[in-house]
Formats: sequence, C-alpha cells, structure tokens
Amino acid sequence: MYVTALVVAAGRGERIGAPEHGPKQYRLIGGRTVLAWTLDTFRQHAAVDDIQVVIHADDHALYRATVGDADAHLRPVAIGGATRQASVHAGLEALAASATPPEVVLIHDAARPFVRATEITAIIDVITSGCGAISALPVVDTLKRARPDAHAPLIETTVARDNLWRALTPQGFRLADIRDAHRAAVADGHADLTDDAGIAEASGLEVRLVAGDPGNTKITTADDLADAEKRLMSLPADQPAGTPGLAFPDVRTGTGFDVHRFAEGTSVWLCGVEIPHDQRLDGHSDADVGLHALTDALLGAIGDGDI
Ligand code: CTP
Ligand code: MG
Repeated sequence: MYVTALVVAAGRGERIGAPEHGPKQYRLIGGRTVLAWTLDTFRQHAAVDDIQVVIHADDHALYRATVGDADAHLRPVAIGGATRQASVHAGLEALAASATPPEVVLIHDAARPFVRATEITAIIDVITSGCGAISALPVVDTLKRARPDAHAPLIETTVARDNLWRALTPQGFRLADIRDAHRAAVADGHADLTDDAGIAEASGLEVRLVAGDPGNTKITTADDLADAEKRLMSLPADQPAGTPGLAFPDVRTGTGFDVHRFAEGTSVWLCGVEIPHDQRLDGHSDADVGLHALTDALLGAIGDGDI
C-alpha cells in the first residue's frame, strides 16, 4: 500500500504572537525547527513512502533552510490557501494530479512535532477501503456546557463524557475518498473546516478512532512552544530513533576529588606533568591527584562507580 504523509505547514500562527520571529512551524525547539521534528517521524516510518508538505507562498526560503538538500522522501511542495481546509485541499489535489498518487494519505499538522510512530502504525492498520482512521484521545475531564455571562460563564448542563474523544492528527484516508470529500465540502460552501475527519463524515465516510498519544500536542501558543522546548531537553537519550530529543546533546556533570599525603621525594606529578619539588605525593600509583580527580568526575557523570 502506497502511503504519503500530507503535512500542512502553510499557517501564519497568529495565536503564538511575536510575528517578527516567523511562523511557528519554523521556530526552533531543541535547536531545530518544529517542522524538522515533525518530518523526521514520518521520514523514519517504514510504512510511509513519502511526504507531501504544503507551505505558504512566502516561506520557500524558510522551508529550504529546514529540509536542506533534496531528499527522496519529500515530494515537491504544494502551496497552501487562506485556511487549513484550503491548504489540505491543495495538498490532496497536488497528490491526486501527480504522476504517482498514493493510495492512502495521512494528513498531519506541522505544528504537532511529537507525533509517535505507534500512532502512524495504528492508523495505517485500521484504514480499509471506505474507512478512514484518526488519532484521538478519550475525554477524561467532566464537561460542562455554559452560556456566556458578563460575570462569569454560567453552567447550563453537564455533558456525559462517555464515548467522547478529542480528535488529533494524523488522520488517514484513501486519497480518492478524502479528495472527493474535500471537493464536496467546497461545493457546500465550506471554507474553514479545521477537521478532515469531519469533512469525511459529512460525505458519508466511516471514520474510526485509534488511541493517540497524550504527548501528541499541538503547538498553538507561546507557552506551548516553551513547553515543547522543555520536553525535548528532558527526554532520556535512549528514546527510539526518530523521537524528538535524540539529536539534543546529553549534557551531564560530575564532581571528583583525590587526596594523597606528601612524602620525601624530588617531584610531584599533576595532570600528567612532572613538577620538580623537594617532596612527592605518596601512593601505590603515580599519585597524580589532578588526573585521579578528573577521572573520578567523569565516572560520576556517567554513573559508573568509584575510580
Ligand atoms: N495551516 C495551513 N494553512 C492554513 C492554516 C493552517 O497549512 N491556512 C496548518 C498550520 O501550519 C498548522 C496546522 O494547519 O500546522 C494547524 O493549524 P493551526 O494550529 O491553527 O496553525 P495556524 O493557523 O498557523 O495558527 P493560528 O490559528 O494561531 O493562526
Ligand atoms: Mg489556524
């Protein structure tokens, strides 16, 4: 089955603020752009054949700087529209018109760099002809429906949360199915639908849910960006390949010390250098306290016991 990831990266990121720093998908977390992390996970997934990125017409230079030189995984970019719906649609039409249209497309927000390989695998496993599958999380909090009020919103009812899910991306569909659904949405006068599953449902497609990863959050605000940076820095180094954080240096510290008594002699060895002196440091070894303290610190940093 030919699978293409369709990554939409044409938004302007208005809610994140600080427009002088550019669109959020090109901001840095863990030393790389958000988009670079997102692309990695799809690039490294064995069941994903290639990637179609949708960018804004103003962002060619930013995109080039993110992806570097030509990469066999990346199709030529498509140019997005004024809404997410329009950008997804542009990507779908580009794929359908290409020389090698995929059977299945996994639509994903560039702004979700923490997508997991397990989510991608689960979605691909569930998709069949006529059925899409999306990553989603069961709702765990109690839900209230409220009406706006000058004092504070006023609760009208409590909504039962059984069988309620939050839709994430990736969202996977047969390309022809979702392309037709998007065309139908436009024909019905819709231009700003933010959820492809909703578009698919509206045209009668079955869409199933696979358990998403709670870490697969979308970067929307400046706080989200700061959180993403913190998460990348705190990930252990033994994460599976493709996990954001792997390329981030594993910085550790250690302290060490060493003590030898003076004895009669002609020189002292310190850090491998022999210094003439009327005493020496006493020990079974060379009694080089400098190198021994350094070795002790290095062993401490890697958690490997006493010198
Ligand atoms: N997106 C897009 N084209 C648009 C709008 C959004 O490709 N016209 C993409 C964004 O780049 C993002 C994803 O859709 O990866 C999810 O959208 P959102 O989080 O809303 O991003 P923005 O629209 O860029 O942000 P904001 O709504 O705060 O302006
Ligand atoms: Mg938006």
